[in-house]
Amino acid sequence: MTHPPLFSPITLRGLTLPNRVVVAPMCQYSAVEGCARDWHLQHYGALAASGPGLIVIEATGVAPEGRISPGCLGLYDDASEAAFTRLVAALKGFGNSRIAVQLGHAGRKAASAQPWHGNGPAETGRWETVAPSPLPFDAGWPAPRELTGTDLDRLVQAFADSAGRAVRAGFDTIEIHSAHGYLLHQFLSPLSNHRTDGYGGSLEHRMAFPLAVIRAVRAVWPADRPLGIRISATDWLDGGFTADEAVTYARAFKAEGIDYVCVSSGGVVPSAPIPVGPGYQVFLAERIRRETGLTVRAVGLIADPHQANTVIAEGEADLVAIGRGFLDNPRWVWHAALALGTEIAYPPQYVRAAPRSWPGAALAHPTAPPR
Ligand SMILES: Cc1cc2nc3c(=O)[nH]c(=O)nc-3n(C[C@H](O)[C@H](O)[C@H](O)COP(=O)(O)O)c2cc1C
Repeated sequence: MTHPPLFSPITLRGLTLPNRVVVAPMCQYSAVEGCARDWHLQHYGALAASGPGLIVIEATGVAPEGRISPGCLGLYDDASEAAFTRLVAALKGFGNSRIAVQLGHAGRKAASAQPWHGNGPAETGRWETVAPSPLPFDAGWPAPRELTGTDLDRLVQAFADSAGRAVRAGFDTIEIHSAHGYLLHQFLSPLSNHRTDGYGGSLEHRMAFPLAVIRAVRAVWPADRPLGIRISATDWLDGGFTADEAVTYARAFKAEGIDYVCVSSGGVVPSAPIPVGPGYQVFLAERIRRETGLTVRAVGLIADPHQANTVIAEGEADLVAIGRGFLDNPRWVWHAALALGTEIAYPPQYVRAAPRSWPGAALAHPTAPPR
């Protein structure tokens, strides 16, 4: 059977993803001391059972103070590594999805509250935050401490150490978090980086720390495993990081051994005039793909299977990430296959839900072919 483009495999270095559907990284704010718990097993387990090509595990701090919230995952000590080792092994036993971890540092946006406790800084369990410049994220947020050169060397090492732990935990790929106003993006954007040393000012200087991180991670990450990155390709504001700069950054990180980029946008300041709508970031992905030749993933209000398939079919991106669509419907992949008229393997425990063996499918899904 010839699969529609969304369901065709893709190979990155030594890793083949069985299809182009990716679960976008989504914080669950449910870790304890950085460690994955039962919630993560049930959440990611249900997603793995429906067979996306890649599941990207949520933003994970390379240091305790780099976590977005006190409930965020980390990969910085033996306990957090052991918890991930167990989780990754379990997920691989549930299907064919490949498993990524999004490694990052939240910088001035660290120590924030779990969203169900409000969107500001955490009231309990806070820690001192750090950033390129001592500029608070928003009114009511504390000013971060400005990072010194020694701090930056330590942080590069923290990324490398965390990547070493990711190798041992069995991850198929790492996705470096360089988007959404977290530390790497804070260096890239003139809105959050006012430094006058070799890490601020010109684009070359603003890219220096992110590129040092990428280089250090690539050095410990096995040559046969792909390395990815997520970027915000524009701040959507005058004086911010621009799409032109994103293209230059992408060329630079491609040269450092990045294999794919997920193209998102915004997040470095609390509000920007973002024209949110279906597929509103796809044009940014398409541009980076066309101008750099990188493997590119599109994301952002892509929820309809036909829409996702068209993004791939028209060459706008090579992969599509879906976030809230998967929270709404962990079986998104099954239903997308149905809608696009193709068949995929179900886990043996669930085979009787496949339309072929379940007359109820036509009732449950109006697009299901009659049995
Ligand atoms: C609950 C939730 C948590 C998120 N956490 C992360 C994260 O950890 N890292 C990240 O890069 N983006 C995060 N995002 C953004 C998503 O990955 C995605 O880019 C965004 O939701 C847009 O895609 P969608 O319209 O398909 O949901 C999060 C989004 C949601 C809804």
